[in-house]
Amino acid sequence: MKHLIAPSVLSADFANLQRDVEMINASEADWFHVDIMDGVFVPNISFGFPVMEAIARHAQKPLDVHLMIVNPDQYIERFAKAGASMITVHYEACPHLHRTVQSIHEAGAKACVALNPHTPVELLSDILSDLDMVLVMSVNPGFGGQKFIPNTLDKIRRLRSLANVLNPDLLIEVDGGVGLHNTPDLVNAGANVLVAGNAIFAAPSPSEMISSMKHLPSAQSNSI
Ligand code: DX5
Ligand code: ZN
Repeated sequence: MKHLIAPSVLSADFANLQRDVEMINASEADWFHVDIMDGVFVPNISFGFPVMEAIARHAQKPLDVHLMIVNPDQYIERFAKAGASMITVHYEACPHLHRTVQSIHEAGAKACVALNPHTPVELLSDILSDLDMVLVMSVNPGFGGQKFIPNTLDKIRRLRSLANVLNPDLLIEVDGGVGLHNTPDLVNAGANVLVAGNAIFAAPSPSEMISSMKHLPSAQSNSI
């Protein structure tokens, strides 16, 4: 399948949020990536329900909600009601991950688990068949505009091999330091969904950058 592009709203201009949401609507982007940070799980606070609901009112594409929060279970239903199509929880924040994944499905959303850079993909073997997507963090979560951690490529390849056996339809999303420079390598490694904040919103034309990332032929890079 052709890879999907999910612009991260974290890098939008919050004083012109509707303008940036409309830009994504009109672009070739596939999803809105919505980063929720609680200042506890990660050393930053982004935004909460009022802002997410405002995005949902104008968004014409699915909301991919990345919860960087402790104890996400208590908010899953509310995020689903606020318009999340995909809900991502962190492996490191969920002692009862199987139950959490069940709650996401019961709330009517697709279930995704995120892995911090130090967390091995093999830890997901026994839950992989229950997931719709895995988010491989390619920076330490908390901030936009950080540098891509190269070891991520190997993690994606290992995860794709595991998924070929356990869940061939699994989507693999990558988040952090993603841009034109590493799009071909990420897609060749097995990623299907590319999140990008800074690379898109700091570009002279964000919507042209979205199109470039979307249409970059993965065959362009044979360097891995
Ligand atoms: C980081 C967030 C990312 C962030 C990506 O913790 O999860 O979604 O917005 O931003 P860039 O693409 O600028 O690294
Ligand atoms: Zn994110």
